[in-house]
Amino acid sequence: MTAPGEAPDRPDVAGVPRVVLDPDALDRLELVLGGWLPASALTAVTVSGSTPELVLTDAENTPLALVAAGRTAHDPPTVTALGSPSRGSGPHWDPSVRLTAAEVRERIGTDAREVVAVEVDVLPTLADQAVAVEATGGADAIVIVVGVRRGGTAAGGVGWAGLTRAAWGMAEAIQAARPQRRVVRLVVPLPAGHAPELDRGGITSHRGQVSAWRDGGLEVPDLDAILERGLAAHYPPPSARELLRARRSVPGHGAVVFFTGLSGSGKSTIARALADELADGGPRRVTLLDGDEVRQHLSRGLGFDAESRDINIDRIAYVASLVAEHGGIAVAAPIAPFDAGRRAARALVEPHGTFLLVHVSTPLEVCEARDRKGLYARARAGEIPEFTGISSPYQAPTDADVTVDTTDTSVEDAVRQVREALERRLDEGAAAAP
Ligand code: ADX
Repeated sequence: MTAPGEAPDRPDVAGVPRVVLDPDALDRLELVLGGWLPASALTAVTVSGSTPELVLTDAENTPLALVAAGRTAHDPPTVTALGSPSRGSGPHWDPSVRLTAAEVRERIGTDAREVVAVEVDVLPTLADQAVAVEATGGADAIVIVVGVRRGGTAAGGVGWAGLTRAAWGMAEAIQAARPQRRVVRLVVPLPAGHAPELDRGGITSHRGQVSAWRDGGLEVPDLDAILERGLAAHYPPPSARELLRARRSVPGHGAVVFFTGLSGSGKSTIARALADELADGGPRRVTLLDGDEVRQHLSRGLGFDAESRDINIDRIAYVASLVAEHGGIAVAAPIAPFDAGRRAARALVEPHGTFLLVHVSTPLEVCEARDRKGLYARARAGEIPEFTGISSPYQAPTDADVTVDTTDTSVEDAVRQVREALERRLDEGAAAAP
């Protein structure tokens, strides 16, 4: 195997089929190239008779490694590095801590008799630090190992960079307590989905808390419980409860309000009014993704066939999920006529925040009678093909969180109903948050 960076004779990979790796597979590739895992750990990749070679690339199509089948079916595949995966920024990406297994062994030195690895997968507490100092008492060399992921974000807002900084803080404390020992700092990628059995090269692992790695997230301390204890020293319980409640309503948990309904149903009007109200003095930033506006920018050039509409909804949901992830509120108002597309949107958003589906159920007769843009008349005349409600179906949702019909509901009332539902859901979300 060739380590990244060495690249002696780059093999000619023109014409070799390519596989784009997702973030977790990239993590696994880095572990294989670093000598931490065997090539068989590249589970996303199968090389066999008909495809004896594959080039692995990242999402930008940069060739990273060539995988070739072994000589016989029993031989493991060989992996040759072609380039380094792109790096992020932050202390966990510092090349001086992203070491290969061989580099770690070199730093430990052959003279070290006992090596202790302190695995940091949760934010260390004072108690953890004391245990780690204690456990390293007999060691000649100490490896502080931080496990991070490319995919997903660390829960609780600490993030991989924060975890790494905290780990280095502990490394300093350990070094101060054990001044004569060699302390090696190491960051390894630990992809979600399994706890890789790393080749630890005989290093005794002190804290075996690989379970949090397996879930791919950080265990987050119950900050509210800690805060509650602190507040109890200064406030009677009802006051303390109010302070905690106020703290929860601070942004952190974002949301997507997703309107669906026929053209002319009143979605855009309600969505705009809602966005204005939410932005007015509310704690969260608001982004409006109106159907027609999205079509001019994000989805310019897309048509109205079923596939294009699904792509349009997927783009809206993706952008909205980013807004929610950062604690904002996205208000989207496309027709979104298909159940499957709306459900996919909900699934995309929910890991990042609240998703509220609002069905503006104004019937076709009313929308057509209003015909604000004159489109229904043109659709009836056959000038606009695949027009929703006329020549293309609208599947009414069965999973709407709020339903409003603007035939007999004013814009103010509709906005109030949606706001109340949203506030309830945000409260629930905050109460359920760690
Ligand atoms: S969606 O189906 O993909 O969700 P979207 O909300 O983006 O639709 O766009 C709907 C708007 O595009 C309508 O309000 C209307 O102004 C315009 N439009 C143009 N052609 C069509 C069509 N065939 N069907 C529906 N709306 C259309």
